[in-house]
Amino acid sequence: MRLRDKIAIVTGGGSGFGEGIAKRFAEEGAAVVVNDVNAASAQRVASEIVAAGGRARSCAGDVSSDLDVARFVRYALDEFGGLDVLVNNAGTTHRNQPMLDVAEEEFDRIYRVNVKSLFLTARHAVPHFRAKRSGVFITIASTAGVRPPSMVFTRRCEMIAFRDTARSCSSIGRTSSGKKLITRFMAW
Ligand SMILES: NC(=O)c1ccc[n+]([C@@H]2O[C@H](COP(=O)([O-])OP(=O)(O)OC[C@H]3O[C@@H](n4cnc5c(N)ncnc54)[C@H](O)[C@@H]3O)[C@@H](O)[C@H]2O)c1
Repeated sequence: MRLRDKIAIVTGGGSGFGEGIAKRFAEEGAAVVVNDVNAASAQRVASEIVAAGGRARSCAGDVSSDLDVARFVRYALDEFGGLDVLVNNAGTTHRNQPMLDVAEEEFDRIYRVNVKSLFLTARHAVPHFRAKRSGVFITIASTAGVRPPSMVFTRRCEMIAFRDTARSCSSIGRTSSGKKLITRFMAW
């Protein structure tokens, strides 16, 4: 059990990769807060983890809302007594189409969910990581972000923002505690 007694939040944990990550973390011993904008899916995944003998709770919320992010970070602290890992997995996109056909509102929506969420989760999780002098901030990205920019323009923008957010979190961790705050990028 590589995550025994660790406490993790997995955003977008109600389906897909997030569901897999939440379940695997629980199998490895972590207590998991399953977040999703879809309350029913988050609840289903948390219930399945508990039914399999793991520890989990669901906390619905939109990762692009400051209030919701504050609430699910607070929920992890109140329910499980801490926070060790935050997995930024929630994501959305538009159908494949040329950049010039993407509507401004669509771009804004994707950016809020995929990029602004990193700022918000860092804002609410990093103070706890600082206080305990450790913490892991994992961000799920896409290999589309490192392909030629013309292929998937929003993905390219996200990748740049992910990288810069990770660097910021990393430097916050180092300057506050002298210990490196680990930040991982995972791209599919
Ligand atoms: N599936 C792929 O091939 C692929 C490729 C590259 C990157 N990714 C990335 O992996 C991550 C997971 O993708 P997936 O394929 O499992 O997608 P998915 O659609 O199956 O899961 C995403 C989950 O995030 C939730 N979500 C969406 N908006 C949210 C919000 N505002 N707040 C909270 N939850 C929200 C959805 O309800 C859903 O449960 C995403 O960040 C995605 O960009 C996936």
